[in-house]
Amino acid sequence: GVETLARIPMSVLKTHNRKDDAWTAIHGKVYNMTHYLRFHPGGEKELMRVAGRDGTKLFALTHAWVNVDFMLDACMVGFLVSDS
Ligand code: HEM
Repeated sequence: GVETLARIPMSVLKTHNRKDDAWTAIHGKVYNMTHYLRFHPGGEKELMRVAGRDGTKLFALTHAWVNVDFMLDACMVGFLVSDS
């Protein structure tokens, strides 16, 4: 359940920026998109632009109509929190 998911600081998100270990955050949720990369209709290269970063803005710019919440639900690893 959602209550068991991790709180992930930006400093940790940043380290997952490789094709074999690619995380992003969208609307406060952190996703491990490594296995989704090759299925992305917009290509791996586009998706890698948000690896290790907050991808909310770029995602909204390219396709705000895509339901990422639903699509990547199984890839969710936690919630983005600020470093303290
Ligand atoms: C297309 C999912 C992130 C660039 C699509 C489509 C889906 C999708 C379902 C097809 C949409 C349609 O045909 O209406 C996702 C998910 C993302 C993500 C789940 C987040 C993890 C991104 C990012 C970028 C991007 C960050 C750009 C930096 C594109 C482009 C297309 C596309 C350019 C159009 C491809 C085409 O029709 O030729 N994406 N996307 N996507 N995506 Fe993403």
